[in-house]
Amino acid sequence: MNDRFLRACRREPVDRTPVWFMRQAGRYMAEYRALRTKHTLLELCRTPELALEVTMQPLRAFAFDAAILFADILLPLAPMGASFEFAKGEGPVIHEPIRTRAQIDALRVIDPREDLAYVLEAVRLIRREIDGKTPLIGFAGGPFTLASYLVEGGRSSHFVLTKKLMYSDPESWHALCRTLSAVVLALLDAQIDAGAQAVQLFDSWVGQLSPDDYETFVAPHMRGILQPLMKRGVPVIHFGTGTATLLEAQRDAGGTVIGVDWRTPLDDAWRRLGDGVAVQGNMDPTLLLAPRDVLLKGAKRVLDKAANRNGHIFNLGHGILPETPVENVAAVVDFVHEASTR
Ligand code: CP3
Repeated sequence: MNDRFLRACRREPVDRTPVWFMRQAGRYMAEYRALRTKHTLLELCRTPELALEVTMQPLRAFAFDAAILFADILLPLAPMGASFEFAKGEGPVIHEPIRTRAQIDALRVIDPREDLAYVLEAVRLIRREIDGKTPLIGFAGGPFTLASYLVEGGRSSHFVLTKKLMYSDPESWHALCRTLSAVVLALLDAQIDAGAQAVQLFDSWVGQLSPDDYETFVAPHMRGILQPLMKRGVPVIHFGTGTATLLEAQRDAGGTVIGVDWRTPLDDAWRRLGDGVAVQGNMDPTLLLAPRDVLLKGAKRVLDKAANRNGHIFNLGHGILPETPVENVAAVVDFVHEASTR
């Protein structure tokens, strides 16, 4: 089995730097777009055979060193009682955004084994298909990021309603995060039981907060998820964006691997994080839209800053963009492998 990714998570020596991309399955691939003409995104997520197929598409096309389960961080919200849809061109739309304490108290702590059985079945199918070849990463969203969708009702630029809840009714904020954390921990636990060989917690929007607010409103909940997970013996990747001022606090909350976005140079991030964690990142995904020489220079800059140190996983600083040309993905993946050969 190609265990470069798992070895790097454990900071063991590798023959080449492992590489995978967040959102590596998706619209930039013609195979994915073809399936999407026949099925909605939620159908793909809720049909284990289709989730398996979509998970495999990027692995067939590129030399990625890890697979990531095809699902979405928002899937738990519907059985919890917050129905939503993915509206064309708008992203997620929560039908009844959270505005009252009664709505928070009404959210159900689901049992993922029953309420998200299709996600766990997809994990088992993918493991059966790729076992012995590539490790499988499971994932869920962080409580701040999930709460922001529930409260804002969809995507947001300034997170005004989320922060207003936090500042004006901290008790309700913490109640909401406790419920979300219980669900996220149970879901990741169940994914590990079903065969996920690593898990990533996407706290994508937490960089909206100051370090003080992170400590007060988010860190306790992240610790409550990450600390028990780290006892499961599989690598736990702790990811966020816009986190230049939060890296130490994120590390202290937990994670075997810290995901870093492109705004922080990888060597600076690593110096601050210290030797106790592996580091994942951090090329700007927009570089994949640049001319080939600019793109490969960008990839080389990331590799140079990592300097073949044990514990680097090459990734983008955030998800791959739908406009990305597939030949650029192939070029970067192959370049990373060649340029990092020990
Ligand atoms: O990485 C992978 O290949 C696995 C699949 C995956 C999806 N969503 C499928 C998806 C993963 C890891 C996610 C995580 C996710 N979902 C996050 C955290 C990661 C990040 O990017 O910060 C967030 C914030 C979401 C919520 C979400 N789902 C949004 C905001 C959107 C709309 C985005 C858009 O560009 O339209 C989605 C839709 C979604 N989830 C798509 C995919 C492939 C878009 C594709 C489609 O409509 O077919």
